[in-house]
Amino acid sequence: MSTPQNTPASARAPGISLKVANSGPVTSATRISLRQINAFYGAKQALFDVNLEIPDNAVTAFIGASGCGKSTLLRCLNRMNDTIPNARVEGQILMDGVDVNGAEIDPVSVRSRIGMVFQKPSPFPMSIYDNVAYGPRTHRIAPTKADLDALVEKSLRRAALWEEVKDRLGKSGLGLSGGQQQRLCIARALAVSPAVILMDEPCSALDPVATAHIEQLIEDIRKHTCIVMVTHSMAQAARVSQITAFFHMGQLIETAPTDQLFTAPKLEQTQDYITGRFG
Ligand SMILES: Nc1ncnc2c1ncn2[C@@H]1O[C@H](COP(=O)(O)OP(=O)(O)O)[C@@H](O)[C@H]1O
Ligand SMILES: [Mg+2]
Repeated sequence: MSTPQNTPASARAPGISLKVANSGPVTSATRISLRQINAFYGAKQALFDVNLEIPDNAVTAFIGASGCGKSTLLRCLNRMNDTIPNARVEGQILMDGVDVNGAEIDPVSVRSRIGMVFQKPSPFPMSIYDNVAYGPRTHRIAPTKADLDALVEKSLRRAALWEEVKDRLGKSGLGLSGGQQQRLCIARALAVSPAVILMDEPCSALDPVATAHIEQLIEDIRKHTCIVMVTHSMAQAARVSQITAFFHMGQLIETAPTDQLFTAPKLEQTQDYITGRFG
């Protein structure tokens, strides 16, 4: 009888039995193309020759050990690395075919088309209503008060928060629970109808119930939006994403439909990571 110790690598089960919930063929068009991305902090290189096509109407998950460059790549997508001293990005990032680093492109306009949700829920210190109205006001999206009211309600409904807050829209967003705050941040992102939403470990500060809420919400939103999500949880990647990209030490090792990456990875390095042998 073979034991884990004496089973040859070739005979080991190729993947793991995570529940892959929403995976399946992604047929939507490419929303973002990454070509030969290299990123540096001073002399230290954080990403090496990353090439990746990110489809619309799907969740693409970035997985890999801490420090492998997931957040750096996410920040490349909305030019947030521009704001970090010493950070430098080379390569091309095409969104709908347009280079987001093009000389004529205004980084503020790039960020308005790309919403961002962070690890720590970060409502602005203002009312629930004003949090959601912030983007539409800045970008003059809703001309009248009635338009703005309707947009705030619609965004809160899409973020599955409306019923819980409709009677206290004037109260501070900071008074909500952690899970509600994160849904408020998602509502705030949705209010400007972004083409892309980036999420960096959006559930890592939340309890399992709040996490389940957010995951359900992500599944609803992604039908109309391109979502790129960093997660340290392989189980979460398996539950919510359609495409998974596995990174190791700044390199993109393998990208595949999520069910395939977790059940039949092509590379041994991926298999070692998903079966917990390293990282
Ligand atoms: N602001 C920064 N200044 C210098 N080095 C950084 C900075 N942010 C990240 N790094 C380094 O870049 C590498 C990739 O980091 P990061 O993208 O945060 O990885 P991950 O999100 O996968 O944990 C790490 O070695 C990290 O220490
Ligand atoms: Mg990170």
